[in-house]
Amino acid sequence: MIKLENVSKNFKKNKVLKNISLEIEKGDFVVLIGPSGCGKTTTLKMINRLINPTTGEITIEDKDILKTDPIKLRRKIGYVIQQTGLFPHMTVRENIELIPKVEGLDEDKIKESTEELIELVGLDTSYLDRYPSELSGGQQQRVGVARSFALDPDIILMDEPFSAVDPITRGVLQDELINLQAKVKKTIVFVTHDIREAIKLADKICLMNEGHIVQYDTPENILKNPADDFVTEFVGDNRIWQSPEYIRARDIMITDPVTCHMDCTINEAKFLMGSKHVNTLMVIDNETNRLHGVLRKKHVQHAINCDSPVKDLIISDYIYANPDDSIVDVLKEVDKYHISNIPIVDNKKRLKGLITKSSLVETLSQQYIDDETEVY
Ligand SMILES: Nc1ncnc2c1ncn2[C@@H]1O[C@H](COP(=O)(O)OP(=O)(O)OP(=O)(O)O)[C@@H](O)[C@H]1O
Ligand SMILES: [Mg+2]
Repeated sequence: MIKLENVSKNFKKNKVLKNISLEIEKGDFVVLIGPSGCGKTTTLKMINRLINPTTGEITIEDKDILKTDPIKLRRKIGYVIQQTGLFPHMTVRENIELIPKVEGLDEDKIKESTEELIELVGLDTSYLDRYPSELSGGQQQRVGVARSFALDPDIILMDEPFSAVDPITRGVLQDELINLQAKVKKTIVFVTHDIREAIKLADKICLMNEGHIVQYDTPENILKNPADDFVTEFVGDNRIWQSPEYIRARDIMITDPVTCHMDCTINEAKFLMGSKHVNTLMVIDNETNRLHGVLRKKHVQHAINCDSPVKDLIISDYIYANPDDSIVDVLKEVDKYHISNIPIVDNKKRLKGLITKSSLVETLSQQYIDDETEVY
């Protein structure tokens, strides 16, 4: 774990970081974001001691980094910067192998590892003999990433690594980084200006402003519960709609669907459907709230003995979703099974809510209603 405690940084009289505290768990992908000059790069460079704090403590795995030799420290920390920092007069191979060679690692192992690394970042080994100028911007960034992995560090620091490439390449590089991280599970601290990039990549986003941390939270919480107006404005209104995977069933379900119990008669069910204007009833166990099944209007309409209990007519292998399922998955189920509503149950099958096509439409239209109120 990387831990910054009450860290401040002054450049002469300029207070650049003002008493920030931050904990980054091992294996997490943390994105630092905020307006230009807010202190992102300074924070990043303090982790590998390119900059020392004015006051405060920084520890990695409980060891005070100010008491660690900076060279030894940097061996465990990969670093990728915006303009790649590749040496133009060295081939790709020489760039990647430079530090391992300085470290005196075994030549054969270095060669093997370089070939693995170049493939890991999606380039084939023929690129190893080229010079950086013979590569596209995106390919150079891949080499920069490969080089940062050369000593197999636990931590990778990335300072706006993709900001100089076109949007399409950028998207590809982001996807590749997600796949790479799934394989290698490093602790990554990544700086960006782009909130979409942050939402896509981060386990946690650290939003900074004027040397302070304004909110440090999961992308989902930043989108749903912005800490203040600055966060709301920075993230942008209705941003959640651009990340529908963060909208959960629980956010849009009706929490009081019309229910009846197992012993309710068909007549009673018919009456209930009529008076509540619904064509589906959730049939539950009154005590446990467990959902036994779903009763549809078309099934009760043609029932012969209306005094018999509904339990003979219910569909017990109904399609359901969990409160934490994303709206995207719920919509896929609705579409796949051509259903007009879907009960939401917890792990014990207790009824928590219901999503109907009309509740979906209402939620979706809310987006546009909100947009309109903004305009006027
Ligand atoms: N070596 C330095 N000497 C003096 N001031 C510095 C130094 N490095 C950074 N600063 C100042 O510290 C502040 C924070 O800089 P930093 O580079 O951390 O910002 P940033 O959030 O990374 O910005 P950007 O998004 O533009 O890269 C800025 O006002 C900058 O001018
Ligand atoms: Mg910066």
